[in-house]
Amino acid sequence: MMNDKQMAIVFNDNIQMVDLQTQYRRIKHEIDAAIQEVLVHAQFINGPQVKTFASRFAQYMNIAHIIPCANGTDALQIALMGLNLQQGEEIIIPAFNYAAAAETAALLGLTPVLVDVSADTFTIDVNKIEQAISRHTKAIIPVHLFGQTCDMAPVMRIAERYNLYVIEDNAQATGALYTDPSGEIKKAGTIGHIGATSFFPSKPLACYGDGGAMMTADDKLAEYLRMIANHGQEKKYKHKYIGCNSRLDTLQAAILNVKLKHLSEFNQARIQAAGRYNEAFESLPDVIAPCNPSYTTHIYHQYTIQVRNGRRNALQAWLQEKGVPSMIYYPAPLNRQEAFRVHARKAGNLEVACRLAQTALSLPVHTEMREFEQDYIIEQVIDFFRKN
Ligand SMILES: Cc1ncc(COP(=O)(O)O)c(C=O)c1O
Repeated sequence: MMNDKQMAIVFNDNIQMVDLQTQYRRIKHEIDAAIQEVLVHAQFINGPQVKTFASRFAQYMNIAHIIPCANGTDALQIALMGLNLQQGEEIIIPAFNYAAAAETAALLGLTPVLVDVSADTFTIDVNKIEQAISRHTKAIIPVHLFGQTCDMAPVMRIAERYNLYVIEDNAQATGALYTDPSGEIKKAGTIGHIGATSFFPSKPLACYGDGGAMMTADDKLAEYLRMIANHGQEKKYKHKYIGCNSRLDTLQAAILNVKLKHLSEFNQARIQAAGRYNEAFESLPDVIAPCNPSYTTHIYHQYTIQVRNGRRNALQAWLQEKGVPSMIYYPAPLNRQEAFRVHARKAGNLEVACRLAQTALSLPVHTEMREFEQDYIIEQVIDFFRKN
């Protein structure tokens, strides 16, 4: 057994939140060949790989339409544009979340209405959605945070009752499976009217730059979203709508075609690593391991614990000293962000979101985690609670 110092020498600077370099080395021959193919045909925009990816990804997601675009934020924005909403209409969004959904809503002159999240799952608290609905409410954006889905049955029930659209933000949960109360299993992102996802390099399905996609089962909506993403063009130089320019480039699509083949194996690797953490942290009273309800699988885009008794920051500092990186997702809920002070409406006191911003800590979890590396991380976490 190595002592702390020896371990630190071996691992220091080596443990990463996400290890894209080792992953690349493992699939290098496939990636290099895919990139090479694009360099040779030189159709860098809308090359054949984009179409192939859209069709393979649609098959994987078991949905009729995939509309590739430039990034996950654009996917949310174009999805919202596709709903033809009026200025001031309201979109329900969880307060503990990345800024993209609320930002795109505000950018379009819509009002994000921030709803609290569940303390167990970090996802939107379905019991607080109805009280946030007003006569201006038009859509809900449930965000499948950290790798598992929201409780979608109540979300869809409420949406139907109030005639609302549902845009799933699936940037962090590609490949997670949702089981509805009837037992039907669906891929995260294919439950609502539109799914929006990101292929940012650290995401579950990721390229080597920016990329994103929308998905829908609705033929008409798919056509409309496709046009919006392409300057509102019906065909070349025939602009029917005001749109934008949001493309997945061919090189990124070529990379995604390779990564898609490995997606299940990648997700499985993180699930396994999360299982080891769960087991190790069971006996730590000050650590709440991620909760995974039975309606969803968890693909652990992040392995996020909650640290009790105000000890989160001390644990993070301790780990940093030992060469273990960690991240705080998210250090402030959206209601505490300056940008949303005027551009969002708060539904309730959002106390859970505020508390999670003080207690949540994400530990390294990725497709290349080695058991001895993870043992070291676990040892440092346990050591912190033993000695502090
Ligand atoms: C939940 C969520 N939604 C949307 C996005 C935006 O994706 P992108 O960075 O591709 O614009 C992200 C990216 O971090 C995200 O985590």
